[in-house]
Amino acid sequence: MTAPLARRVREDEWARVRDLRIRAVSDPNAAMAFLTTPEQELAHDDEFWRARALHASAGDEAAQFIAEVDGEWVGSATVIVRATGTTDHTGRTVYTARADVVGVYVSPEQRGAGTVDALFDAAAAWVAGLGIRRLTLDVHADNSRAQAAYRRNGFAPTGDSFTSSIGPEIVMERVL
Ligand SMILES: CC(C)(COP(=O)(O)OP(=O)(O)OC[C@H]1O[C@@H](n2cnc3c(N)ncnc32)[C@H](O)[C@@H]1OP(=O)(O)O)[C@@H](O)C(=O)NCCC(=O)NCCS
Repeated sequence: MTAPLARRVREDEWARVRDLRIRAVSDPNAAMAFLTTPEQELAHDDEFWRARALHASAGDEAAQFIAEVDGEWVGSATVIVRATGTTDHTGRTVYTARADVVGVYVSPEQRGAGTVDALFDAAAAWVAGLGIRRLTLDVHADNSRAQAAYRRNGFAPTGDSFTSSIGPEIVMERVL
């Protein structure tokens, strides 16, 4: 299997950003992985996806990384920077600046091939370049495969847990 290469998305790739997100939320495991449904994502117009790609492709607030094999997009992970004193996407207060990884997805045919590692390496390098020393993520308590992949990539449970719209979640963190 060819090793995937991870890189940040470009602004003009908004249609591929849209298509990959729709694929991800249509995955059989999506109900315990993503906070939105295919119906919700399909309802967005092109302007929404243009704005999302622009925000994810430039600046220091967010970055989406995709993994490519022979030009095909086979995975994605998005980093959102959380400044001290703000609230995150679940309404929790941010007490120490951190970077959250959301929307982690690998195409079924590419799983087990190190794709998620390439995505986390790219994400960690970007975050470290901003001077932030913590990568944080939430994962469903029953999503054993994702948790194992995260542990292999240096994440450990913080001990925090909460209930979101997808059910019980635990918080994991990787110190950079
Ligand atoms: C989660 C996901 C990104 C991980 O990528 P991946 O390529 O499948 O991950 P890997 O195969 O590299 O690693 C999976 C780990 O889980 C283990 N594993 C595989 N199946 C498992 C299962 N059913 N239960 C528990 N662990 C399992 C593997 O052995 C491996 O651990 P190891 O490296 O310690 O041996 C991918 O499976 C995916 O996109 N899933 C659907 C969406 C999702 O759940 N996203 C995460 C949202 S938080």
